[in-house]
Amino acid sequence: MATDVITLITQDHRVVEGIFDKLKKRQGDQKALVAELHALLIAHARAEEDRVYPGIDAHHSVEEHKEAEVLLDSLVRAQPGTAEFAKALDDLIESVNHHVEEEETKLLPSLKKAADAKELERLGKAFWERRAEELQALGGPAGSADGPTKAELNERAQQADIPGRSQMGKEELAQALRDTKS
Ligand SMILES: [Fe+2]
Ligand SMILES: [Fe+2]
Repeated sequence: MATDVITLITQDHRVVEGIFDKLKKRQGDQKALVAELHALLIAHARAEEDRVYPGIDAHHSVEEHKEAEVLLDSLVRAQPGTAEFAKALDDLIESVNHHVEEEETKLLPSLKKAADAKELERLGKAFWERRAEELQALGGPAGSADGPTKAELNERAQQADIPGRSQMGKEELAQALRDTKS
């Protein structure tokens, strides 16, 4: 199964885009989606900054994370269904899409060139651990998000080809994914 840092980061980007899409189409529980988006974006950015960006020239990327976090705050504060919410969402999508494109066309390809397969795996593990730590912290009493959704875990379990995944509950899936990564 793929656990290299490039696959894991790219996978998160697609999940974020999926949430953007649902928010744009006003599908599902908007507040819950915003909470999920908040946790995922923060955990992803922290893990990149702490475990992936060091060693590569990513100063510009860190600036873009800061910009996205300010916009994310506005979205979290806005009431779904209002013009303010729509504007905050559009601004955030524009900012994140731009950042993701740069990351996937410049940063990650140069990382792939610089590191061998073993190093990409090592970075993947470090990225994932930091991300999990942050998700857990955000899901604590002070946070409003509870980490990846069942659908997200299902998707990962499928990619990881975990046997018996269709019979598993959310916690079991999360545990099985943790086990395959260690
Ligand atoms: Fe990223
Ligand atoms: Fe990033």
